[in-house]
Amino acid sequence: RRHFLTSTSAAILTAGALSQTPVRRAFAQGKAPQTRLAMPPVLDTRATRRLSLTTTSGSSSFFGGPATPTAGYSQGYLGPTILMQNGDLAAEVKNTLDEPISTHWHGLLTPGEHDGSPHLAIAPGGTWQPEMTIAQDPATIWYHSHIHERTAEQVYFGLAGVIHVTDGQDDARGLPSTYGVDDLTLVLQDRRFDASGRMVYDPSMMDIMHGFAGNRMLVNGQAGATAVVPQGIVRLRLLNGSNARIYTLFFDDLRAMHLVATDGGFLPTPVDLDTLRLAPGERAEILVDFSGGNEPVLMSDPGQAYGVLQFETDTTLATRITRLPEQLDGAPEDLSGAEIATTRQVSLDMGMGGMMMGGGGFAINGHPYEMDRIDFEVARGTVERWQIRSTMVAHPFHVHGVRFRVVTENGGPPRPENTGWKDTVLVSGEAEILARFDQPASRKTPFMFHCHILEHEDAGMMGQFTVT
Ligand code: C2O
Ligand code: CU
Ligand code: CU
Repeated sequence: RRHFLTSTSAAILTAGALSQTPVRRAFAQGKAPQTRLAMPPVLDTRATRRLSLTTTSGSSSFFGGPATPTAGYSQGYLGPTILMQNGDLAAEVKNTLDEPISTHWHGLLTPGEHDGSPHLAIAPGGTWQPEMTIAQDPATIWYHSHIHERTAEQVYFGLAGVIHVTDGQDDARGLPSTYGVDDLTLVLQDRRFDASGRMVYDPSMMDIMHGFAGNRMLVNGQAGATAVVPQGIVRLRLLNGSNARIYTLFFDDLRAMHLVATDGGFLPTPVDLDTLRLAPGERAEILVDFSGGNEPVLMSDPGQAYGVLQFETDTTLATRITRLPEQLDGAPEDLSGAEIATTRQVSLDMGMGGMMMGGGGFAINGHPYEMDRIDFEVARGTVERWQIRSTMVAHPFHVHGVRFRVVTENGGPPRPENTGWKDTVLVSGEAEILARFDQPASRKTPFMFHCHILEHEDAGMMGQFTVT
């Protein structure tokens, strides 16, 4: 058995009653022991044009506590970082687990039959072989299992990983691109540990209402590790791979975060942010200047701040990029001038009463998800306006098979994080999006739209549409 995870934070575990220690205390006890943050292994498909993943069961011990049964793609927890380039890609996903899984390419622009939705379940012992064509702008996207009513638990225990769609032009862009040195992939996940240090998933009714929150932060499946970076400009590719937690990230020394890419690709110019909000399912690429040699902590939630990741600089690491690029070549299409074929209302419903009576209560436009009901029929090639509404709590709303632009949030302009290409947007009140639906999806393999709080999705806050 391969133990992807090792004990890294024994000091933190013994320092206090773990079950009562909130995430924000994760760095409070000092930063020994110094374990260097590892990147996920790389799976480079660019030359081979082949991608092979095998779901694998694992046994992972996080704080030196008892091991938890976990799962991963080709390893015991989480999966490799897949490098893809435009062109053909013969993919193969083998399922060796004893339950059905699927593999959804979240952010890949591909037809419904290759999407990995709940309709494309891979039975235990089975293999799925989509023959894909990659054709999109460079972006940080991801993959995860997507079985209806099982997504939350399967992702929680490890069936997720990151994809870099690259075009080999990052040098010309002046962007750091040395994997694990000045180009870090960071999967942010909170997980719940019991008093013995075992990772658990035991959602109560309240946890389903609010989404399941952890009491510890893991980055790339590691607890309490330190990211070691060169003294220069470093690119951080952030994925919120949590089931439900929304991060508002900032550095403890308030250094700027230069946003260069959102879910679907690069921005036209870097956007300087003090804080970066990242909801489940969203990605962001930021540049951070470490030339001063300080050792900041990436934190979340100003006001009730907690540590996410400690950074440390190492002068022996090659510094390739010392200046921020002024321009990027991202050009998110402004769809606001396009002809709108259809305007749809999408109401993310959460019925507290229904929930208490055990009736679910999570729905979209009043309908909980049903695998054989098509909610919308979109005409292929047209641009649609979707007006999304959420009452009570904020929901990260995701649409398969497209990238979209956020035109308004609560009647005003979108916040800076939402100005580029998106496939997931946190809706708190109202948001209006525009998308051109180019990828086809049949009744047999429709596209999903759903809340990316995985407990909400599993409880029925999901719908599906065809594109024909
Ligand atoms: Cu990341 Cu439908 O999912
Ligand atoms: Cu998706
Ligand atoms: Cu939700």
